[in-house]
Amino acid sequence: MNNFKTIIEPFKIKMIEPLTMTTEEERRNILKKAHNNLFLIKAKDVLIDLLTDSGTTAMSSKQWSSLLEGDESYAGCESYYKFEKIAKDIMGLKHFFPTHQGRAAERILFSAIISKNKNIILNNNHFDTTRANVEQLNGQAIDLVIDESKDSNLMHPFKGNIDLNKLENFIKRKGALNIPLCMITITNNSGGGQPVSMENIKDVSKICKKNNIPLFFDAARFAENAWFIKEREKEYKNITIKKIVNEMFSYVDGCTMSGKKDALVNIGGFIGVNDNALAEKIKNIEILTEGYPTYGGLAGRDLEAMAQGLIEILSEDYLYYRVNSTRYLGNALKNIDIPIMNPIGGHAVYIDCKKFLPHIPSHKFPAQALACELYLAGGIRTVEIGSLMFENSEMELLRLTIPRRVYTQSHIDYVIEVLTKVNSYKNNIRGLEIIYAPPFLRHFSAHLKHSNQ
Ligand code: F0G
Repeated sequence: MNNFKTIIEPFKIKMIEPLTMTTEEERRNILKKAHNNLFLIKAKDVLIDLLTDSGTTAMSSKQWSSLLEGDESYAGCESYYKFEKIAKDIMGLKHFFPTHQGRAAERILFSAIISKNKNIILNNNHFDTTRANVEQLNGQAIDLVIDESKDSNLMHPFKGNIDLNKLENFIKRKGALNIPLCMITITNNSGGGQPVSMENIKDVSKICKKNNIPLFFDAARFAENAWFIKEREKEYKNITIKKIVNEMFSYVDGCTMSGKKDALVNIGGFIGVNDNALAEKIKNIEILTEGYPTYGGLAGRDLEAMAQGLIEILSEDYLYYRVNSTRYLGNALKNIDIPIMNPIGGHAVYIDCKKFLPHIPSHKFPAQALACELYLAGGIRTVEIGSLMFENSEMELLRLTIPRRVYTQSHIDYVIEVLTKVNSYKNNIRGLEIIYAPPFLRHFSAHLKHSNQ
C-alpha cells in the first residue's frame, strides 16, 4: 500500500485471454435468441462479463504451478492434508470436507440436519442456492437481516448484520428445537454484498449458544468481510486480516464455503465443522453423493490451488485493491446520479433499479430490463437480483459483479462510459414479461419478452 490515489492492481499480467468485439446489431440478435436472459448467452459473445465473481478468478502463477503437485490418489491424498492444514490454520475448525462447490456443501449439510420437525434455517439473507437447497428438503429459509439493509441510501457500516431482536423473538415464537441451524452469510450477497460486524457475529453466537442452535458461516467472501471489519470496527484497525478471520471463526461451529469466491479458484468448496457426530453424518452423505472425503468431488490438483488461494486471499495489499477498485466503479456511478446500494460492497456494485427505472414496476423486472440494455449498448453482462431471481423480492437490484484479478481499470472505465450512455435514455427502457419459467431457480433459464407498455 502507498499514499498515491491511483488504485494499482497488485499483480502484473503474464498470460492474456482475447476478448471478442461484437456490433450492436449482432448483440440485438444474440439477445433475441437468448430470450432476454443473459445466462443463455455464450460467454464468447460477451465483452465484459460482470455476471458473477464465482469461479471467474484469475489464478496466480503460484496456484498454476501448484496444480502439478496434485496428488490424485483416491484415498488419503497429500493434497487434502495440505489443504486441511491451511484451512485449519485460518479457520480453526476441526473437520474439513472438500466439495465440488458451495451448493454441494449446502446440500450435504442441510441433508444431515434438516428433518420433518426440525426444518427452519435462519440467516441474515439466504443466497439463492442456499434458499433453494433448504426448500428442496421441505425446510423453511428465514431471513433476519437488519431493516437498515433494505434502504439503499442509508449509510450503515454493517448492513449484513442479523437483527438480534428479530432473532430472539423468532426463536421464542418457533422454539429452538425446531431450528437445526442458524447461518450468517459473510458478506451478505443477496443484501448488496454488505459485511457483518465482529460484534454482531459475537452477539448472534451468544444467542445461538444459549438456545443450543449451531451457528455456521456461509463463508464465500469471508476475507472481504474481514477487511471491512478492519476498516470499520476501530478496535481491529491494527489487527492482521488473518487474526480477524481467526476470531470470526472462533464464534461459529462450522461453515459452508464456495471456494470459487474467496479461495480464488475456478472450482471448489468445502464444509468445515467442529461437532464429531455431525462430521460423521456429513462424511457418510459425502461418500454417497460427492466422493471420498479426502477429495470430495475435486481433483487433487484443485485442492492444491484452493489451499494456495486461501493463503493469497489474506493479503492486505490484495484486499485493499479489491475493495477500493469496486468502490472506484460505485463512486463513478454515483457521480452520474445512478442510484446504487450504499455503502459500496466488496465484490460488486448494485444498482437500485426501483429508483433508477421508476417507470417499470417490479412485475416487469426493471433490473433485468437494465441488464439487457447494458448488454445491447456495450456487450456488458450483469445479473439481476430482484423479482426474477426471488419472487416477491423487496428490492430490484442489478449486480455488477467484479471477477477477482481479471479486469483492469480501463475495462472498468469502459463500463462507466456505457452506463453513462444508457443513463441518458433510461426513460425509454421497457419492462419485460416471462413467457417460460422452470419450477426452481427460474432466473437461470426463464424466457422473457419486452412488454408493450
Ligand atoms: N453462498 C453465497 C453467499 C454465494 O454467493 C454463492 C454463490 C453460494 C453460496 C453457492 O456457491 O456457486 O460455489 O455453488 N454465488 C454465486 C454468485 C453463484 O454469483 O453470487 P457455489
